Amino acid sequence: MIINKLKKFIGVEINDLDITKILDIGIINEISELLSEFSVVVIRDQNITNDQHIKFSEFFGNLEQTKVGTDGSGSKLIILRNFDEDGNIVSPNDRQRLNNLANKEWHSDSSFKKIPSKLSILSAKMIPSNGGDTEFLSMRAAYNSLPENLKLNIEDKVCWHDYSHGRLKIDPNLVTSEEKKALPPVKQKLVLNNKKYGKSLYLGAHCSKIDGMTENESQNLLKEIYEFVDNKSFVYSHIWKPYDLIMWDNRSVLHRATPIKGKIEKRLMVRTTIAGETSTLND
Ligand code: OGA
Ligand code: MN
Repeated sequence: MIINKLKKFIGVEINDLDITKILDIGIINEISELLSEFSVVVIRDQNITNDQHIKFSEFFGNLEQTKVGTDGSGSKLIILRNFDEDGNIVSPNDRQRLNNLANKEWHSDSSFKKIPSKLSILSAKMIPSNGGDTEFLSMRAAYNSLPENLKLNIEDKVCWHDYSHGRLKIDPNLVTSEEKKALPPVKQKLVLNNKKYGKSLYLGAHCSKIDGMTENESQNLLKEIYEFVDNKSFVYSHIWKPYDLIMWDNRSVLHRATPIKGKIEKRLMVRTTIAGETSTLND
């Protein structure tokens, strides 16, 4: 495989691979290794069916079932689109568009699950001509930039992650009672440790509070941390080309969608999510 680095701390690109013709498990191991080291792997020119997407994803582990209330519910696919069955762009206050808005906050997929996901794999089907880029932020680079006293202070901290938390700020009715029931808040460690490549911060829009602190203390500490996280030099911004496939390590990056610019054109993306194998609380 020919591999191009995309950014100092994060991201590599592969141009010469056909993921429908993997004959050698060595390739899968190589990609897993790239994900551990660089967090984001872009594979160009993969015009794949959903079945091919699922089959490739399963090389990396068990797939999450799509939760209630999300397009693709009950299957192994998440469908992200801004248009309806008839191809009309949905109105700005449609549930679909509001959920897309939620994706515009930095987040880690499924951090609201007891065992959160390991990887996500997103395939671009239809992309607007302007905007709709996806940004990835290296939480390992962010962790490494913290002052030593702050690193010490947060070493053993645990956060609450709650699916409703970020979404209720967008619209108080966005989370249904069915979703609330299916997704009670869970605890995650704030600092994760990759044995080979070191520590990273585990935060994002689902993180509601640091465990064992008052609301005020928690807000202040989170704010202090986010001041270091919010640094463009840790961000790889992906401008999509048709049939790009992107894989990312949910335990070492945050990601977010960015707005479509100008006239709203159709955007259709399909994602699989590889389930995690371990609780973050053991990290
Ligand atoms: C996702 C996601 C962002 C985007 O698929 O998990 O957050 O730009 N996508 O579509
Ligand atoms: Mn996401």
